[in-house]
Amino acid sequence: QNKAAKNSVSSFPEWACQRKAKLKHFNSKLTSAIEVLQEYAELRDARQDYSRALAFRRASSVLKALPFPVQRTEQLKGLKDIGEHVKGVIEDILDHGSSSEVENIVKSEWYNKMKLFTSIFGVGPSTAKTWIECGWKSVEDAQKNGCPSSDWRISWGLAFFKDLNTPVQLQEAETFFQIVKHEAELILPGVIVTLVGGFRRGKAQGHDVDILLSHPSEGAEAGLLPKLLAALGKRGLILIGHKEKSSFRSDVLYKDFKISARGQLDHFEKWLGICKFKKPNLFIKPQDLHQLEGATNTEPCSRNDELLSIDTEKIRQKCDHLPNISFEESLDDLYEPKLKKAKGSEPIDEEPNRLSAAPRDWLARRVDLIIAPQSQYYYALVGWTGSKHFNRDARLYAQKKLGLKLTSHGLFDLEKVRLKHLS
Ligand code: CTP
Ligand code: MN
Ligand code: MN
Ligand code: MN
Repeated sequence: QNKAAKNSVSSFPEWACQRKAKLKHFNSKLTSAIEVLQEYAELRDARQDYSRALAFRRASSVLKALPFPVQRTEQLKGLKDIGEHVKGVIEDILDHGSSSEVENIVKSEWYNKMKLFTSIFGVGPSTAKTWIECGWKSVEDAQKNGCPSSDWRISWGLAFFKDLNTPVQLQEAETFFQIVKHEAELILPGVIVTLVGGFRRGKAQGHDVDILLSHPSEGAEAGLLPKLLAALGKRGLILIGHKEKSSFRSDVLYKDFKISARGQLDHFEKWLGICKFKKPNLFIKPQDLHQLEGATNTEPCSRNDELLSIDTEKIRQKCDHLPNISFEESLDDLYEPKLKKAKGSEPIDEEPNRLSAAPRDWLARRVDLIIAPQSQYYYALVGWTGSKHFNRDARLYAQKKLGLKLTSHGLFDLEKVRLKHLS
């Protein structure tokens, strides 16, 4: 194994975008420790510690791609992304089973509060810091004091904290994807609909559902998004969301799209929001059925601007009384057989839902819908498939090695663009 290890390190690809990264790898004990250091650096001060966080990210990216479990730090010789700090941490874990630096962070109150608060939809490190300074310790504290929030994301993130922090299963993502595809096809025949994000990378669960839409004929995608949203709304699938117009301009297409902590910013027309997903493991006791029948229909939440900034309790009450999702029979068929298959492997959630008095048969789920014209579709596909680190590295590679600018919109020759502007 020694020889094999040596060989693989000497031929180890330098760039993350050249490596195969498996979901399951040999060094998860090391990478989860290093990811704590990375996250801590990101949370402490996004600007100051960004390069520190990036160094940790690079190190764990390398460890994930190694074809063997690291047993001695000598095995890491020649790997440029494993710095001295990381080597020390690895040594501690190999020698003592854990790293005290990592353990201290994991135990620290500040880190845990920051992690908790930033796990709320709409809450970034700076909001989380303000909340900690206010003395808030729990999501309940924020729910009591943080609303109404001026940011609709935070109000809704708090209202559906529990739902939104329950991982979305591939099964749910696929079902929702099929519904979107079905509706989009009715609006725009020939439409290309792709499930992107972590699910396209083979993950079995994720924090949201990312769907990219395009059409083989350039420009045909115009006007699709509002119609699609109306169709999904009619099905009772939309809770709330925010539409962004395309801000793409071909004359600035070479412009640098900043990579922020939240992701790469691009200029596509898109919708970021929260949808209602039918619970994959729906279990309603017969004696509770009458409560569902008694639920009264009010206007859909998504059309109600007043809901943008009211308190969480009101949001929940309104949404709890939305009509049940009516799936078309064909889609129901699509949904049920898979459900039955999955049943043996998945635990049935019998825990009463504390969010509402009446049992709900749906969960609030984060959804991103992105519209790309055909000429930019494949770049959008790469960008929105991720991972973040893969994109960051591929873009750096394009810039450093090829002298080209890669974004989610295209691959640009900066020299030519510059010359064009001079002439
Ligand atoms: N992305 C992007 N522009 C944004 C947001 C995200 O290009 N404004 C990219 C991200 O870099 C990522 C992909 O789109 O590669 C999906 O983003 P996200 O849903 O945040 O992450 P996932 O990798 O899908 O992880 P998860 O399963 O937790 O959703
Ligand atoms: Mn030691
Ligand atoms: Mn995602
Ligand atoms: Mn997303």
